[in-house]
Amino acid sequence: LSAATEVRCSQMPTYACHRRTPLNHHNQTITNALEILARSAFFQESDVRYLGFTRAASTLKALPYKLQSVNQAKDLPWCGGHCMIVIQEILEHGMCREVEVIKNNEHYQTMELLTGIYGVGVRTAQRWFKEGIRNLSDLKTMECKLTAEQVSGLRHCKDLQQQVTLEEAERVGQLVKDTLQRFVPDVHITMTGGFRRGKEVGHDVDFLITHPNENALSGLLEDAVGWLETQGLLLYHHLKKRKPALRSASSSMDSHETCYAIVALPSSSSPWNTDIEVKKCNSEDAERIAHPESPNSLNSRTWKAVRVDLVVTPQAEHAYALLGWTGSKHFERELRRYSLREKKLSLNSHGLYDLEKLSGSLEC
Ligand code: GTP
Ligand code: MN
Ligand code: MN
Repeated sequence: LSAATEVRCSQMPTYACHRRTPLNHHNQTITNALEILARSAFFQESDVRYLGFTRAASTLKALPYKLQSVNQAKDLPWCGGHCMIVIQEILEHGMCREVEVIKNNEHYQTMELLTGIYGVGVRTAQRWFKEGIRNLSDLKTMECKLTAEQVSGLRHCKDLQQQVTLEEAERVGQLVKDTLQRFVPDVHITMTGGFRRGKEVGHDVDFLITHPNENALSGLLEDAVGWLETQGLLLYHHLKKRKPALRSASSSMDSHETCYAIVALPSSSSPWNTDIEVKKCNSEDAERIAHPESPNSLNSRTWKAVRVDLVVTPQAEHAYALLGWTGSKHFERELRRYSLREKKLSLNSHGLYDLEKLSGSLEC
């Protein structure tokens, strides 16, 4: 290691939002192991351990070289006792026993499977595990007890478990643009989330939607949903209304108008690729799209279920929403922690608030 690199590492900032965290970095084996430990803690609802492992993994992602000895990690932020043992084991043996045990653990595997279904959080998955649910067939037997979101998640889980490629995300973007422009021709749409960070795959596609004239945005999501539905391109949606009362609250709760959807993305070779107007397609294809569950469609499917988040913001809040929805989750958490601790400012995806002024105004 050059002396300059050593100096840089000893000065590694403690807040993740102050460092570069490249997608491809030098310590993948170790960060993968730490992230498995983090997920295991998450599944046990142990927030402290979850954050500890997540922070250690994040620090190592920012390290500009491959760790050669555990000594090189001892001064790095968040790399405490437990993490050091993991790092040492991996450096010496190429793997960590604790992580291997977790990967083979029935609870961990089941929680991975269940929380991987859209609409299923840790609490629900925990409850199901206790009730004896171990696989998707078990879950299908209790379909009547599932929420509409979970039913859709289960129905389309094969597609949703596959990652969305950048090429697919771009086609979703075109579909979203074509749909929204029918109602507001000069609507402004930005792809956010992982794809905005330069990832080449994602679990969904996120979009922010805005317009200088707030009135133009009123009812836009309903219109878009209605149109997609008539085209048979919407497999599930949940519209969340804007809650103005929460907007300036100091919480990180988001109250933008949002549509959480599963769309049927026509495949690139299907007629919808160049023109999404179903009316121009042959009726057999339209039937297949309109009734995606029909057994006849299974062999020759021309679409893939893709999760899409559409978030509408007034232009004044757009910058904050863009920052908040670009991610990653850890970067956002750290940014909020930095704002609050070091600057006494509360950041959410609606704005940045001076807590002292806010409490003053609340007292009035
Ligand atoms: P992949 O989709 O797996 O590629 O990762 P991603 O980083 O895009 O994750 P995701 O789509 O879950 O979320 C994108 C970003 O938006 C993340 O940084 C989240 O913190 C943020 N986000 C997700 N849901 C909400 C929400 O309801 N409110 C706010 N404010 N932010 C959210
Ligand atoms: Mn995303
Ligand atoms: Mn998302």
